[in-house]
Amino acid sequence: MARKIIIDTDPGQDDAVAILLALASPEEIHVLGIVAVAGNVGLAQNAKNALKVVELSGRTEVPVYAGCPRPLMRKLVTAEHVHGQTGLDGPDLPEPAKKLETPHGVDFIIETLMREPENTVTLCALGPLTNLGMALAKEPRIAPRIQEIVLMGGAYFEVGNITPAAEFNIYVDPEAAATVFACAAPIAMMPLDVTHRMLATPARVAAFRAIGNRTGAAVADMLGFSERFDLEKYGWQGAPLHDPCVTAYLLAPEIFSGRKCNVEIETNSELTRGMTVADYWHVTDRPHNATFIREGNSDAFYALLTERLARLP
Ligand code: RIB
Ligand code: CA
Repeated sequence: MARKIIIDTDPGQDDAVAILLALASPEEIHVLGIVAVAGNVGLAQNAKNALKVVELSGRTEVPVYAGCPRPLMRKLVTAEHVHGQTGLDGPDLPEPAKKLETPHGVDFIIETLMREPENTVTLCALGPLTNLGMALAKEPRIAPRIQEIVLMGGAYFEVGNITPAAEFNIYVDPEAAATVFACAAPIAMMPLDVTHRMLATPARVAAFRAIGNRTGAAVADMLGFSERFDLEKYGWQGAPLHDPCVTAYLLAPEIFSGRKCNVEIETNSELTRGMTVADYWHVTDRPHNATFIREGNSDAFYALLTERLARLP
């Protein structure tokens, strides 16, 4: 039985790869819908990018919704410096023929969770947590019905990427993140601690291009663009590939390891806004509200990605 998921996303080249990995795996993953959120770039562009990625995959039956255009409390911070003006710079993907669904993405999340049997829908969050936070505020009854929240966000031992203390997705909407981490649904978080192990080296990007299909070529073009900023910043052999860790965790959890612990979100201090304070060594008695994934097998991760992307057009 395929696992039912909703993907909440701000595509973003790495979001696109995470979405493609899910859409390439229909036997294991049933994507009920994709919801765009403001983050890497503005909502309208992120939503268009999500439509483009769905069309690239050939899985045009998967519905795409637009969610919130800005964080719950704060001014939107975007990342064109990483992802380009379109948010999906790199490949030249055609204007999408597919249209957004009419309902608001937050209402789609709520209605799906209230309709589907409880504990059968997983929320996969690849961007700022605004839509999930808004859904939890608008309909608190969804919280106990969520099977699991698997999200890319946060950092602890690896520290921040948008500030010295915070990772981008959490930094953009710390109040939404605090709402999510307090909702009591099972959470598996893929922080920078693990995504920084998943480096898209030239050989790995070349393997995507060598697949020989349009998806592999587009992914290689995407990563060839988005890697520039990180290569210069970190000086590594490849740029970290963040969001596909979420999808890979669903498909092959054995690739990853971590531990349940308490994770709290800083929302008051401007210096540490959006920091995920992980009590990894259990020095407090605060509730263990998340599984903090710290390690991952990068060879297995890229082998899975390459094999699955080859299944798409
Ligand atoms: O910090 C990395 C995260 O921020 C990824 O989700 C990337 O797409 C950006 O949204
Ligand atoms: Ca993202």
